[in-house]
Amino acid sequence: MTEPDAPPTFQDRILGLIQPGILLPWALKHYAIVVYETIFYRRQPLAPLLRSKEIRDEAFSRFWVEFSVPPNEDDTQAVPDISTLTGSAALIPPLLAKARGVVLDMGPGTGSQMPYFAAQPSPNNNISAIYGAEPCVGLHAELRRRATINGLDGKYHIVPASAEKAELLSALQKQGVQTDNAGGEPGQIFDTIVCIRVLCSVPNPERTIADLYSLLRSGGQIIVVEHVVNPFPWQKGASAIARVSQLLFTLLGWSYFVGDCRLDRDTMSYLCKAADQDGGWGKVELEQRFLWSAMPYIAGTLTKRL
Ligand SMILES: C[S@@+](CC[C@H](N)C(=O)[O-])C[C@H]1O[C@@H](n2cnc3c(N)ncnc32)[C@H](O)[C@@H]1O
Repeated sequence: MTEPDAPPTFQDRILGLIQPGILLPWALKHYAIVVYETIFYRRQPLAPLLRSKEIRDEAFSRFWVEFSVPPNEDDTQAVPDISTLTGSAALIPPLLAKARGVVLDMGPGTGSQMPYFAAQPSPNNNISAIYGAEPCVGLHAELRRRATINGLDGKYHIVPASAEKAELLSALQKQGVQTDNAGGEPGQIFDTIVCIRVLCSVPNPERTIADLYSLLRSGGQIIVVEHVVNPFPWQKGASAIARVSQLLFTLLGWSYFVGDCRLDRDTMSYLCKAADQDGGWGKVELEQRFLWSAMPYIAGTLTKRL
């Protein structure tokens, strides 16, 4: 495991502390619009109370499309210039270049990471199929559009399911994926599982990660790029102010308005523990980044023993 390299500038530090405060009002705006439309146009005044999850999902999908799809996105030049990427976005392309075999792309959102799967060298690279498990159906149209413009139509399969194992397996079976082993039990299906900013949003991360581990083939890898709890005071380089900032934005409703995302997940320890029953992971290559910020990241790969 490596620690952050270059020290942050003053501007990095300030932005790192207020970053959730830029996203939260944006998500809140979409929530307010959806509530307004539901009450006054659809004439369902009780829906925001009785069907709050549905309303929040619709608001989140609108927010996420606006946030993650640039209005002037150029359909003809799908692979962005990775040298221009900064922050957590810059961590992603080199890790996705390692994806191979049958891939599970957990919570792909609008498919912002799709170009980096497509960027592997032709003829169609080391990846045989990608299953994008995205429970938020409001994001599927954009996901499909991005699969098409990235030339992944035949290879990228959108799976309308969450990370919940029974739901995921059932949706995969409907797409013709063989999910059982010879004994009729759920088998090891994937060579690569990609978790990019999704483990922050699943309801039970420990169980989800254990389930994902069980679906990983021997020698397979989980690729993670996840924002996590600021590890103050346990870790050198972590920040007390950033931890306070995480608590503050949590109190202001971050999770409620931003798709159940949590700023305080200790995802690294859940990931490391997932392989305990097999004597640990074969290899763990994780780095911690942006420890001064309210959105510190872990990024890297964990490889299952052969
Ligand atoms: C912050 S977005 C990240 C999207 C994408 N991975 C990216 O980096 O652009 C979180 C995504 O996780 C999805 N998600 C939320 N809960 C989930 C669950 N229980 N299982 C799978 N995906 C989930 C959301 O619908 C959303 O697309």
